[in-house]
Amino acid sequence: MNFSLKSNTEYLTLVNFLKQHTQRAYLVGGYVRDYYLNKQSTDIDIEVYDIEPSLFEKLMEELGAKGVGKSFFVYKFGCFDISLGRVEKKIGKGHRGFSVDVTNDTKTASKRRDFTMNAIMINIFTYEVVDHYNGLEDLHNSLIRHIDDTTFIEDSLRVLRAVQFSSRFNFTIESKTENLCKEISLDDLSKERVFLEFDKFLKSQYKLKGLKYIFSLKILEKLFSINLSEKERNKFIEYMKDSQGYYDFFYYLREVSGCEITFLLDRLKAPKSFYTFFKTQPKIADVDKIKDLLKLALEIPLTQWIGINHSKFYFQVKDLEIFSEKFCPKITATTLLKEGFAGKELGEELRKRELEEIEELYGREMGTTN
Ligand code: CTP
Repeated sequence: MNFSLKSNTEYLTLVNFLKQHTQRAYLVGGYVRDYYLNKQSTDIDIEVYDIEPSLFEKLMEELGAKGVGKSFFVYKFGCFDISLGRVEKKIGKGHRGFSVDVTNDTKTASKRRDFTMNAIMINIFTYEVVDHYNGLEDLHNSLIRHIDDTTFIEDSLRVLRAVQFSSRFNFTIESKTENLCKEISLDDLSKERVFLEFDKFLKSQYKLKGLKYIFSLKILEKLFSINLSEKERNKFIEYMKDSQGYYDFFYYLREVSGCEITFLLDRLKAPKSFYTFFKTQPKIADVDKIKDLLKLALEIPLTQWIGINHSKFYFQVKDLEIFSEKFCPKITATTLLKEGFAGKELGEELRKRELEEIEELYGREMGTTN
C-alpha cells in the first residue's frame, strides 16, 4: 500500500502515539474511498478501538488534539479527525438528531455509515483492510449502495450525498438505494446543509449523471417545488450537454422552469457571489436585439454570458473583441462632470454615451442596430 500519508509527520506522530495504547485504529470514510479512486482528500478520519472513553479523552489531550462536536467527542489533530468507534441512534428530527454510543465492534460501527464505499477501513499500523460491506467491490463496479435500510433513511442528507457522489465519480446509484432515496423527504434539512452538498454537485465533472438522479429522485420537486415536463427535462439535458460551468445548472433551471433566479437561489440560501454573478446573466429570450447584447458587453466579455452559445447572435459576435474582452468606453465621468452633469443625471448620461460608443463601433459591424 502506497500512502502519501506515510511521509506526513503528523500522521507518523499519531501512529506512534496510538501504537502504545491499541492495535486497532483505522483510516475510515471519504479518505479511504478517495484513496482507492486515486483522488486527493484533505480531511482524514481515524477511528480508534479498544480504548475506554475516559482514557481516550486523556490521551487526546496529551497528544494536543482539540475536541470538536457536541453529542460525542471527535478530536482534531492537524488534518485528522480522531474518534472512537461508535453507534448512532435516531432520537430526534433532522440530520443531527442522533444519540451516540461507543462500540468496539468494527462491523457495528460501520453500519452507521451511508454507503458501502464509505465504510472501508484500513488499519493504520498493519494496513489490513476491513471491508464488512463489500465497499471495494462496489467501488470497482462504480456503484453507490446503501448499507442498511433502517439507518440509511434516518439521515435525509444522504439523498443529496448520493447525487453529488454520482456526479463527482460518474457512479451509478444502485436501484434499491435509488428507490429508498426517492421516498426520503428533504424538509428537515437546513438550507446551508443542502447548499454544501449542492455545491459539490455544481463543481463536479459528470453533471449530466447527477442531473439524471436530480430528476429521478425528485430533487427539483423537493427543493424548489418545480415539476418539469418530459420535454423541459430533455431541454435541460441538452443545455447542460453544451456547457457545464459552475453556475450553469441554475441558469438553465431558470430557462426551463421559468422561475426567477432569486427564488431558486433563496431556496438554497446560496452565497452572495451567486446573486452578483446572475446580475449580468440575462435570460436567452431577453437578449432579443443586438442592442441588448451590446449593453451586456459593457458589463462582461460576452463569452462569460452563459446564454451566448444559444444566442441567435452567436456567430455575429464570436470573432469580435467584445466576445472575449469587456468593452472599455472612452467616455468618462470626468468628461461629463466638465460638461456640467452631476448626480443621477451623470450616471444616466454616462450609460447613454457608453451605449452610443459601443453601437457606433460594433452595431454596424454586426450588420444592424435593430
Ligand atoms: N457519513 C455518513 N452519512 C452522512 C455523512 C457522513 O454515513 N450523512 C459518513 C461516511 O462514512 C463518510 C464519513 O462519514 O465517508 C465522513 O463524512 P464526510 O467527511 O462528511 O464526507 P465524505 O464521505 O468525506 O464526503 P466528501 O468527499 O463529500 O466530503
